[in-house]
Amino acid sequence: MSECGPIILVVGARPNFMKIAPLYAELKERGVEQLLLHTGQHYDEKMSKVFFEDLGLPQPDIFLGVGSGTHASQTARIMVEFETVCIQYKPRLVVVVGDVNSTLACTLVASKLHIKIAHVEAGLRSGDKRMPEEINRIVTDSLADILLTPSIDGNENLLSEGRSEKDIHFVGNIMIDSLYNILERSANSEILESLSLTEGEYGVLTIHRPSNVDDVDAFTSIIEALEVIGEGLDIVFPIHPRTKKNAIEMNLIERIKSIPGVMLMGPTGYLDFVSLISSSRIVLTDSGGLQEETTVLKIPCITLRNNTERPITVSDGTNRLVGNDKDEIVSAFKDSIIKDYRDMVVPQYWDGNTAARIADVIMEGIE
Ligand code: UD1
Repeated sequence: MSECGPIILVVGARPNFMKIAPLYAELKERGVEQLLLHTGQHYDEKMSKVFFEDLGLPQPDIFLGVGSGTHASQTARIMVEFETVCIQYKPRLVVVVGDVNSTLACTLVASKLHIKIAHVEAGLRSGDKRMPEEINRIVTDSLADILLTPSIDGNENLLSEGRSEKDIHFVGNIMIDSLYNILERSANSEILESLSLTEGEYGVLTIHRPSNVDDVDAFTSIIEALEVIGEGLDIVFPIHPRTKKNAIEMNLIERIKSIPGVMLMGPTGYLDFVSLISSSRIVLTDSGGLQEETTVLKIPCITLRNNTERPITVSDGTNRLVGNDKDEIVSAFKDSIIKDYRDMVVPQYWDGNTAARIADVIMEGIE
């Protein structure tokens, strides 16, 4: 395929938006011809639209509108639509981020059309192939031409899988660019006031992984921990749509609502969420990005998973892995909440300048 068209930047799901926004702005400033493509994997106003507003992203140039489905049907729908786009626009480069189904689907398509691919957040590995994201990461990295890693462990993983050193670029963590960009502005958010919260006197919980919310025993065990933790500290729980759906189906939603300290609410936008976490005392989560954001904000994080593809947040950050056993969660909570991380040094290149480093690599790669 001829290599004269625009760069296509792909987003699909909530955690993609903050990874693309700083790069989009940087490439725009450099006058690079680019198209923003949204697969529509996430489509709810609160899972998608509000993030475009908070991050200053323009309306997508191309919207595939694929929506939800099983892994196969969602991936397949994105592939069919994205192939047509690639044939029409003949992009010189496709940029994918993270590890969601949209990342994998667009990588497969571009690769078969011999279009160059850059993967932002390359090289992360949890070692757990039961996670759909791990499969997405492995396949994407095996096909991408330009591998942009957030931390040195990413370089090591890629080298050990046989990738050549010349394809791997340690550029740092682009999510942190977005975090720094919004941090000051997040002080204008009214979310704390609207929930009657006081800085440093509440925790935040997010869960959505299949391992925690598709299994009734695991989900129940987390709720039991919440019942104990909620006695001593208010916990704000912005619930992910799939978590809410499962909680209703498993008859657990009323039990969550009845815990006195738990404040259940819908998903929030990025501005409000950064405001919530940056003023919190502790975060409990199974998200990937939140492990990184809490490390930069120096807020204790308890990760309700047995593994992480972001080990640097444990070795050099505020993160602690505990799985989903009730007693483990409660004991880690008691231990972590008294920790003081203020003197901690954040990982290298998690400094707000990653988009510029990525743009340098990309410009060189498409010349
Ligand atoms: C996806 C990513 C996950 C990421 C997460 C962040 C994959 C495999 N998973 O998981 O890595 O951490 O996004 O949110 O790509 N739904 C809505 N409205 C929406 C989107 C989803 O109601 O806007 C509901 C639907 O019931 C859908 C379910 O959530 O079936 C799951 O959505 P999906 O995009 O398949 O995966 P996530 O769990 O969101």
